[in-house]
Amino acid sequence: MAESAELILDGKSYSFPVTEGTEHEKAIDIAKLRDQTGYITIDSGYKNTGATKSAITFLDGEEGILRYRGYPIEQLAEQSSFIEVAYLLIYGKLPTTAELQEFSNQITKHTLVHEDVRKIFDGFPSAAHPMAILSSLICALTAFYPESVSPDLNKEEIDLNVIRLMAKLPTIAAWTYKNQMGHPLNYPRNDLDYASNFLYMMFSFPTEKYDIDPRIVSALNKLLILHADHEQNCSTSTVRLVGSANASLYGSVSAGINALWGPLHGGANQEVIEMLEEIQKDGGNTQKWVDKAKDPNDSFRLMGFGHRVYKNFDPRATIIKKAADEVLTALGLEDSPLLKIAKELEQAALTDEYFIKRKLYPNVDFYSGIIYKAIGIPTEMFTVMFALGRLPGWIAQWKEMRENKEPIGRPRQVYTGELERDYVSIEQRS
Ligand code: SDX
Repeated sequence: MAESAELILDGKSYSFPVTEGTEHEKAIDIAKLRDQTGYITIDSGYKNTGATKSAITFLDGEEGILRYRGYPIEQLAEQSSFIEVAYLLIYGKLPTTAELQEFSNQITKHTLVHEDVRKIFDGFPSAAHPMAILSSLICALTAFYPESVSPDLNKEEIDLNVIRLMAKLPTIAAWTYKNQMGHPLNYPRNDLDYASNFLYMMFSFPTEKYDIDPRIVSALNKLLILHADHEQNCSTSTVRLVGSANASLYGSVSAGINALWGPLHGGANQEVIEMLEEIQKDGGNTQKWVDKAKDPNDSFRLMGFGHRVYKNFDPRATIIKKAADEVLTALGLEDSPLLKIAKELEQAALTDEYFIKRKLYPNVDFYSGIIYKAIGIPTEMFTVMFALGRLPGWIAQWKEMRENKEPIGRPRQVYTGELERDYVSIEQRS
């Protein structure tokens, strides 16, 4: 007999079906709760509430498991490429050689952006944060492809917008950096792979030859793979909610970029490096800062620590920590003071009752900035790097939501405001 949940309200019993996923996660389906009982549920921050069913990413916060379409993140990080993982997330399977080549070729053909996009760039102050520019220009793509705002896009039309976005975001992302530095913008090169092309657009100058370092390309591929999706996190839920109104893929992803920018979410990778640099400037007393993080009267939090779902090690943090050692050693930076402080901070926190009791472990953002800094990415670009990595996940989740014809998202509320009262003219107000 199918499992169900019984609810007793005002002396009356109600039964609601239980749904079970392929990994045996269970949920009480309350789709008929309000119709049958007049009640709704409330769950601030959605800590206990599932927004959807999804076949894209599975994570187990207690066991520290993360899989994209069933493939463990550890295997993908070691054996795959970012473009192959993007294909896997978006289309649900590992591509054949021909499929991967076609996907990569299509992306290469669309890396240029309309020249009018450069005019919009010129309107931004050079001090503008790259995430402000990125979210604005990704949304602006809707203006260049207005047909993308439609409930009736067919498969080919959706695929074209997927390719355009995968292809143009790196170009725009690199341009946000060049714009901030006052450097000439670089056009993409069709002879380079995805990660190499991004590094070329970021760091090359028209005045001299730019040599692509394969060690940095390898590190970048790994970092982008590790950020590619993470089920219904804040920014992905934003993309799905905006997309549920039939907003364009560009507008939906632009909303996700803004959510990711938040310091509690993807913005944490920039905060981590700024925190480590502050600790270094303060003399490197890591215990002092661990104590600050524990002090209820101090708003300081150990950035890069804790997670809404992982109550064990974030498996990405484990891989990135190992990669940080490898990359910094390969680049002769193994004595990085920031890496040393990060490891001391981690050790101090992991042996401290406050963090142990609250199950606070390093998350994906704790070590990623150390690698980005080592490969020359400036701090203000760290969250842009997170967005570059998360893009295929956002696309896959938006596409799944549209293919499953999910209804427009519209949560309910419990009203706690004033009861009915009559309007008072301004003369009679005190
Ligand atoms: C990402 O959801 C995802 O999947 C996100 C992400 C993805 O891939 O998309 O994994 C990417 O966003 C990673 C998280 C990056 N953010 C940070 O590193 C910022 C620092 N961490 C936090 O602020 C916090 O841990 C959150 C936001 C990540 C999670 O917050 P929760 O689950 O809402 O937990 P909480 O804020 O209710 O904290 C529970 C307790 C509190 O103490 P008490 O009130 O119980 O005494 O833990 C404490 C918090 O004060 N706490 C911390 C802490 N994080 C939580 N104390 C010190 N330092 C911290 N970092």
